[in-house]
Amino acid sequence: MSDYQAMQAELTGAIDAATDLDALEALRVAALGKAGSITGLLKTLGGLTPEERQVVGPQIHSLREGVTAALAARKAALEGAALEAKLANERLDMTLPADASPRGSVHPVSQVMDELAEIFADMGFAVATGPEIEDDWHNFTALNIPETHPARAMHDTFYFPEVGEGAAQRMLLRTHTSPVQIRTMMEKAPPIRIIAPGRVYRSDSDATHTPMFHQVEGLVIDRGIHMGHLKYTLETFLKAYFETDDIVLRLRPSYFPFTEPSAEVDVGYKQEKGRRIVGGNGDDDGHAWMELLGSGMVNRRVIANCGLDPDEWQGFAFGVGVDRLAMLKYGMDDLRAFFDGDLRWLAHYGFGALSVPTLSGGISA
Ligand code: PHE
Repeated sequence: MSDYQAMQAELTGAIDAATDLDALEALRVAALGKAGSITGLLKTLGGLTPEERQVVGPQIHSLREGVTAALAARKAALEGAALEAKLANERLDMTLPADASPRGSVHPVSQVMDELAEIFADMGFAVATGPEIEDDWHNFTALNIPETHPARAMHDTFYFPEVGEGAAQRMLLRTHTSPVQIRTMMEKAPPIRIIAPGRVYRSDSDATHTPMFHQVEGLVIDRGIHMGHLKYTLETFLKAYFETDDIVLRLRPSYFPFTEPSAEVDVGYKQEKGRRIVGGNGDDDGHAWMELLGSGMVNRRVIANCGLDPDEWQGFAFGVGVDRLAMLKYGMDDLRAFFDGDLRWLAHYGFGALSVPTLSGGISA
């Protein structure tokens, strides 16, 4: 056996005996690194005569190849063993019961919107949507609120910056869901029965007002629609929503530019343990009236603005705060907490993702 063969046998023995990747790397550096033993031998080739080189060169190269191959083989073996060990260690038994459950919950606002969609779908209403970034015409003008109308000031509107001379029109964050009435009437031929739930924005903030809140709009356009249909619809809706037949409504004359006549709708309630419980006649002992909705017969001018003939088509509309509906049914007292994203609040007031509201199963069961 030549010196080189003896050296290869020794190195290969050490390589095969290496028990981890660090030890293997140390052996590689000692043999093939910059100052390694084989590297040293390769450097001596330059000082040999061509004849000597022809003899010694192949032997040193064969030594280097043999050691390199041994290193690669041992490395693959060690890595394979490490992977096996890892797989064996990190094994998961998928048949074991879970020791933690998902933490997400359905926000009360989403829950109430689902409940509303379910209740109104049963009465033949579809769900419509519109943009939250709205233009002046849909949010105000088409709804019979002209430029100079004091109702514009009432809405505390968030306007976008004006975009230069002659620009189409000023954009804003919609202040109510009523522009969806306009969009629906312009897009679809009557008869129309829709609700439009969504976010609305007003520059206002205290315990009962947040700059963003939620409304649901209702719109019915058909022939021969009158206030009786409005009252019946609202009564049916509120009975289903509050899950009681003891709902008494009071329609009070009011004013909205887009409805004529207009009515504010109050519902009877009773104060119990610091909470308002909806139900009963507001004039009865221990009861009172609470303002809940804005509503009315759609103004002829609004119907005409949408290109429909108000002599042929009539309808009613209503708007109500979704957050307020949620607070009344589920007993929260501070609106701001709705939008804090506090996990404890969400765990307390949230709903299970799998408990979808249905009329047959009890709307909030
Ligand atoms: N848009 C009105 C508001 O935000 C509510 C409303 C809707 C009133 C539809 C009447 C008819 O105050």
